[in-house]
Amino acid sequence: MQKLYVHPLPVRIWHWTNAFGFIFMIVTGLQIRYVGLINLMSFKTAVVAHNMIGFVLIANFFIWFLFYLFSDKIKVYHPELSPLKHFQASFRQLKYYGYGIFRGDPNPHHVSAYEKFNAMQSMTYQVIMLMLVPIQFFTGLLLWDVQRFSAAIELFGGVRIVDTIHVLIFIFFAGFIFVHPYLGSLGHTRMAHFKAMVTGYEEVEDDAKP
Ligand code: HEM
Repeated sequence: MQKLYVHPLPVRIWHWTNAFGFIFMIVTGLQIRYVGLINLMSFKTAVVAHNMIGFVLIANFFIWFLFYLFSDKIKVYHPELSPLKHFQASFRQLKYYGYGIFRGDPNPHHVSAYEKFNAMQSMTYQVIMLMLVPIQFFTGLLLWDVQRFSAAIELFGGVRIVDTIHVLIFIFFAGFIFVHPYLGSLGHTRMAHFKAMVTGYEEVEDDAKP
């Protein structure tokens, strides 16, 4: 096995702050939504904590965004421009996760410094980081002060629409927080990808390209 440096420090700082922050947002979000049904903390504490961590996560997002924007590591997010190749690679990966992995087949994707994501990861992470996360932060910001942002809220169809979008994306993340770590546990050992997200180094076969 050789070690490849795939997760630079800013990405790791962003990732773990974001991961714990999202868990916190989901718990306080549930408390706000189901006040009376869930009693983990007072409604007021949940609202104050949800707002505070929300602002921390918005600032934290820019660590990820600016790092990739100003680094050649952005290549890991370059999309495959041939739709056919992209869908073939995604299907191969899906077949591996749904079937091949249970027969002991090798992972069809081989990690290298600029290809650390398989086709499914690359597409999912782009949708999450460039669409869902920004929309979630933006709708959250509008709901944080509905008086101040009343004009913008009206522009998007009113507070019920903005709130519904916020809750639908919340439901997505509440599921993602289970599926994503599960997929993260499918490295050559259970902990391999988690360790890599802590140390920065992924262990790959000796003959893998750097
Ligand atoms: C308990 C929570 C989480 C755990 C254990 C976890 C674990 C991991 C691991 C092991 C990786 C390494 C690469 C991979 O296997 O995909 C990773 C990457 C990533 N995760 Fe998470 N994650 C968590 C929460 C989140 C959340 C809440 C988000 C987004 C809202 C997220 C977004 C990402 C992204 C975008 C990457 C790729 C980062 C990059 O290199 O640019 N993760 N995660």
